[in-house]
Amino acid sequence: MSVTIKTAREIELMREAGRLLEIVHNQLGEFIKPGISTLDIDRLGEKLIRNLGCTPNFLHYNGYPASICVSVNDEVVHGIPNKRRILQEGDIVSLDAGLIYKGYHSDAARTYAVGSISKEAQQLIDVTRQSFFEGIKFAKAGNHLNDISTAIAAYAEKFGYGVVRDLVGHGIGTHLHEDPQIPNFPQKRRGIRLVPGMTLAIEPMINMGRADVEWLDDEWTVVTQDGTLSAHYENTVLITEGEPEILTLNP
Ligand code: MF3
Ligand code: CO
Repeated sequence: MSVTIKTAREIELMREAGRLLEIVHNQLGEFIKPGISTLDIDRLGEKLIRNLGCTPNFLHYNGYPASICVSVNDEVVHGIPNKRRILQEGDIVSLDAGLIYKGYHSDAARTYAVGSISKEAQQLIDVTRQSFFEGIKFAKAGNHLNDISTAIAAYAEKFGYGVVRDLVGHGIGTHLHEDPQIPNFPQKRRGIRLVPGMTLAIEPMINMGRADVEWLDDEWTVVTQDGTLSAHYENTVLITEGEPEILTLNP
């Protein structure tokens, strides 16, 4: 599949898909506390998405069994919600959610503290979020994809963190995953040139320790190989003639 440039009409639909997903994320963020299960988060998330008249895009995607990916502590992404997995004070939890509005997909992730957490864990969350913003400083027409990738890794690595290499961001639109792939670390090639109307899901995944990850036997959950904490931050972004528009985050 090639990189798609959205029309004005499609951009309006992507905006609405993004706006609605932010509502879902904000409500899920307020729900996070010690004692809830990761399945409680999925149940609420799916209900919020459907109540907004949308469809969860992760549910049954390549067989994924839930609407929200809930990844705790050393889980990087794609944790499977489970009623026996109870959030504990001091955990960090990454929520990755997406929805379809009138045929158009949005995708965003946030990492939250469960109750009070260590200074080190909070720094990992903050740096992961900031690495996204460092990256999108370069998300401008005329720049190349690798400008974004390079900026994300350069920022996160200053803190000694491991930037996950085995998973990447992606184009998004009428499909959850469109071209191009968007690595969070520098490439040998500068990548495609950015053009207004591209919509991109940019999603740094950052480990407190080494970058290496592995897959659990459930075939979904990605964990850090060294057992250190991992954080995730993602938004769906529109390339414009000027500053990028973050569709899943209100200015
Ligand atoms: N945001 C993730 C991604 O872009 C979530 C999708 S994985 C799924 O790949 F299988 F759960 F849908
Ligand atoms: Co994504």
